[in-house]
Amino acid sequence: MTDGKRDIASASGKLGILMPGLGAVSTTFIAGVEAIRRGMAKPIGSLTQMGTIRLGKRTEDRSPAIKEFIDLADLNGLRFGGWDVFHDNCFQAALNCEVLQRDLLDEVRPFLERIQPMPAVFDPRYVKKLRGDTSNVKETGTLMEKAEALMRDIDAFQEREKVDRLVMVWCASTEAFLESKPVHQDLAAFEKGLKENDPDIPPSMVYAYAAVKKGVPFANGAPNLTIDVPAMLELCDQTGAPISGKDFKTGQTLMKTIIAPGLKARMIGLKGWFSTNILGNRDGEVLDDPESFKTKETSKLGALEYILQPDKYPELYKDFYHKVRINYYPPRGDQKEGWDNLDIFGWLGYPMQIKIDFLCRDSILAAPIVLDLALFSDLAKRANLKGIQEWLSFYYKSPIHGPGLYPEHDLFIQQMKLKNTLRHLKGEDLITHLGSEYYDF
Ligand SMILES: NC(=O)c1ccc[n+]([C@@H]2O[C@H](COP(=O)([O-])OP(=O)(O)OC[C@H]3O[C@@H](n4cnc5c(N)ncnc54)[C@H](O)[C@@H]3O)[C@@H](O)[C@H]2O)c1
Repeated sequence: MTDGKRDIASASGKLGILMPGLGAVSTTFIAGVEAIRRGMAKPIGSLTQMGTIRLGKRTEDRSPAIKEFIDLADLNGLRFGGWDVFHDNCFQAALNCEVLQRDLLDEVRPFLERIQPMPAVFDPRYVKKLRGDTSNVKETGTLMEKAEALMRDIDAFQEREKVDRLVMVWCASTEAFLESKPVHQDLAAFEKGLKENDPDIPPSMVYAYAAVKKGVPFANGAPNLTIDVPAMLELCDQTGAPISGKDFKTGQTLMKTIIAPGLKARMIGLKGWFSTNILGNRDGEVLDDPESFKTKETSKLGALEYILQPDKYPELYKDFYHKVRINYYPPRGDQKEGWDNLDIFGWLGYPMQIKIDFLCRDSILAAPIVLDLALFSDLAKRANLKGIQEWLSFYYKSPIHGPGLYPEHDLFIQQMKLKNTLRHLKGEDLITHLGSEYYDF
């Protein structure tokens, strides 16, 4: 045991999970949690629900379940709410997304029907491709007034659902590409921008501001800039809110961050990595817009560079060619297909190839990530961890990181960092995998 044990407030009571965007990911998550609570299914893919954590030396044989090791909110105490530009309740939205089967949705129908989307803060310049009746929006007022309206929504939800604590997870559409601008550089400039409707403040930043201002943890599931700007960090400093992002690590990028560390560990070279996807859900349609795709592409391209470190291993990785494509193909719905072709080389430079054809289900991979992020963000808040939570990089394609640091993309290093953070919070020795039962390192 180390003496670093932190005071962590109790996880008892109810936790409210608020989500901008009641689409494929959030409805699959909410319906899934309810199905799991009723014993109809298992929380596959969720580290908080299924994972264990090794403690002490291997000889000690101590590997409790994570949720028994550290106090996390219980699934039965979770309450859900959200905002969307569409009027559909959670049941109707889940039906439209066609991810979960009708018979499962029918079982939890009354529960889902009670979850009505609150009117959204929306700006069509940032999300162009939504079709249909998108009138469930907050029409009037400055961006600051809209942020205040969101804060009132948060208070009303807390009152209605009698929840003790809250977290917010962005599950709404990917916004158009945006670079950090002067208005994002400090809190005073940002708040002035909110009052003056600065066009460089997209809706996601208005939600993030509302959450962080109230000290509510914020996790960003999309690649939007959102909380990854100095003004938000300054606000976190003031209110103590923990934040994390960006872009849930599912599908193709998950595979990339599993395979690339293995190639590098064995010093196998890479000439090129070509990735293409077909997908037909609304996310795919939004990403058909070049500006939203640019946000996604930037997020997807970063991982390999950081994992392979071409500057340290030029003979193996200098100038490897990396291409990522997303093709909107409606017949596929949420059942994406991701193809990867890797041109690699081994001993004496002899070329080889790897082909991956991943027939995945996007929202099925994303839903357990939303659950884990909600529970761990709540833990961070109860442990008084504020600002960027790098230990949650495990869940993101494009992890946000402190100034002067580089993002960690290697899934296995990310996992080690996450579990060591849990050990640290509980005052347990960190595990380096150095020790052995024969040599007491
Ligand atoms: N499914 C995955 O595997 C995965 C992985 C990484 C990231 N993501 C990201 O998660 C997000 C959600 O994905 P999805 O498949 O559920 O998409 P979706 O299109 O099914 O749902 C997004 C919802 O957000 C709503 N929306 C858009 N702008 C809004 C706003 N300003 N306020 C409130 N609601 C708004 C849309 O109306 C839509 O209902 C996307 O940004 C996607 O890129 C998903």
